[in-house]
Amino acid sequence: MDLSAPAPASRPALGILARAQDRVAAPRPDGLPVITLAWAQSVNGAITKQRGEPTPLSGPESLELTHRLRSMHAAILVGVGTVLADDPLLSVRLVSGPQPIPVLLDTHLRTPLQARILARTDRHPWIFYAEASRDSIRSLEGAGARLFQVHASDAGLDLAEVLRVMWAEGARSVMVEGGAKVLRAFFASGFPAAAAVTIAPFSMEGLTLAEESGGGTGSGPVLRHTVSEIHGRDVVLWGELGP
Ligand SMILES: NC(=O)c1ccc[n+]([C@@H]2O[C@H](COP(=O)([O-])OP(=O)(O)OC[C@H]3O[C@@H](n4cnc5c(N)ncnc54)[C@H](OP(=O)(O)O)[C@@H]3O)[C@@H](O)[C@H]2O)c1
Repeated sequence: MDLSAPAPASRPALGILARAQDRVAAPRPDGLPVITLAWAQSVNGAITKQRGEPTPLSGPESLELTHRLRSMHAAILVGVGTVLADDPLLSVRLVSGPQPIPVLLDTHLRTPLQARILARTDRHPWIFYAEASRDSIRSLEGAGARLFQVHASDAGLDLAEVLRVMWAEGARSVMVEGGAKVLRAFFASGFPAAAAVTIAPFSMEGLTLAEESGGGTGSGPVLRHTVSEIHGRDVVLWGELGP
């Protein structure tokens, strides 16, 4: 054996941003946007202290990575629970780059007219709903939102329909940022997706992404082809979601 021979060439491991860029640049053949799920959690899996309470988890460095990931996507999607709890802007602020379209899942149009997202002048949110009063529709449209009516079931708005409409409107990629119910719905949907998980180095009691109903086997999504990076005090894990 020739020990002086170079080791067989192996593909260098791509970092998180390069992997995300690769996925976003390769449109899916089935006409659905490329999906990235992103959330921050404590070491023991809590994403917030309790439902409805905003809880900062990411340090500045991992937050910057999140904003870079945001700016690669055409849209950022959250559920109305997150709008009510966090009143987020869903904008790219910590880096320079394109601003994705904010997208809300809001079956009965509970988004308050005072929500900060409606005050944005650069990007007006797209709000998906199923059933709402004429007044709410008129007020939100008056505040600049684009409303899309889709079907709903007990599980919420029909995600496949939401994604198809987004694609038809030109959104080729979406970063899904929560909260718990929306992320669980995407886990359960089986849509191909990658996940970017920020793990903050502390434990905290609170709401996790595990099902609240209990009684299950605890099996959930698995990340494959993972890569991890340290960003400041946090670990960020990236992987493709699998069964
Ligand atoms: N750590 C993190 O990364 C992170 C990120 C985001 C949020 N959060 C936290 O998460 C909490 C909010 O989570 P959440 O579970 O209460 O709310 P959520 O997931 O933000 O929103 C859930 C709501 O969206 C609506 N919805 C419509 N269609 C849906 C569908 N197909 N699947 C799921 N939801 C659908 C439903 O309300 P309607 O029936 O009224 O439409 C549902 O109750 C907040 O406390 C926030 O601070 C943490």
